[in-house]
Amino acid sequence: MIRRVRVRAYANIALIKYWGKLDEQKNLPATASISLALDSLVTETLVTKTKEKRDRIELDGKSADRTTAQRIRDYLELWRERKLLDGHVRISSANKFPTAAGLASSASGFAALATALSELSKTNIARSTLSRLARFGSGSAARSIVGGIAALPTGSDPAAKMIIEADQVDFGMVVAIAGDSAKKVSSREAMKLCKTSSPYFKAWIDQSKRDYKAMLAALKSSDFNTIGEIAEANALAMHGCILATRPSIVYWNETTLALIELARMIRSDGIAAYATIDAGPNVCFICKLTELGRVLKRVSNTPGVETAFIAKPAGGSEVIEWE
Ligand code: DP6
Repeated sequence: MIRRVRVRAYANIALIKYWGKLDEQKNLPATASISLALDSLVTETLVTKTKEKRDRIELDGKSADRTTAQRIRDYLELWRERKLLDGHVRISSANKFPTAAGLASSASGFAALATALSELSKTNIARSTLSRLARFGSGSAARSIVGGIAALPTGSDPAAKMIIEADQVDFGMVVAIAGDSAKKVSSREAMKLCKTSSPYFKAWIDQSKRDYKAMLAALKSSDFNTIGEIAEANALAMHGCILATRPSIVYWNETTLALIELARMIRSDGIAAYATIDAGPNVCFICKLTELGRVLKRVSNTPGVETAFIAKPAGGSEVIEWE
């Protein structure tokens, strides 16, 4: 019987954003999403079975804060209710990201944890079931189980599916850290507020359906410019919806705006690079693998950028060692 397992999972950045929930309990996304898993955003997690009467959770070498610890305990409870885990565990998880700024990822974290728990369970869990189980921890985690370019549809219990294997993807991202935003609101909280108070929420959902279909077609025909254009427009539409919540949530700072402008300038200089932004101030530039170096130079020279780095396509979650 396996009693200790070490796993690795990569965070992903969405080309078509998951934003909004149909059901909070089952963590059902209100929009179908498509993402790229990234090699520089990796989480390693060690999970050990213990005879103790409680779970212990350590993140980046420190005890997890109360809210995070509770979220993870609730998640472990879900595995126990489903008879996929008996007893308690010790979790030690670390983000091996180039920088901690605003990139703490629930996608790689929950994908890694779900993968470790499935190894410890005595049941043979299919990859699609594992993706569903990861989704209960965090919607974006469902996509990190699969890796490469992955799509998470909507539905009554969706799992992510592979669209393009990592080694077949010819584009990557330059991640620009734009510092701290004025106010931090978790995606979870912001999604709720958006649904209940943004006048553009319905428009966002409708547009997102069109973007998802168009993105699948663009990926199928390897039409990079269209992929980039849709991704950028989709991210900006999500932020439009977020800005319009009452009270308003503004994830951007002045560097974010400068970087959106930079994407336009880079394009007018003949390099195809497109911006996408999650629930924070950082900007990811989507560009061909062959252009990553040139885009990195331009991004690094932008005032306000704390640090920038290259991220290439990565695979799904994987077990590193066990005993
Ligand atoms: C903007 O997956 O963090 O990054 O399901 O509540 O844990 P929960 O939300 P989460 O939301 C991700 C939001 C996003 C877009 C995306 O990754 O698709």
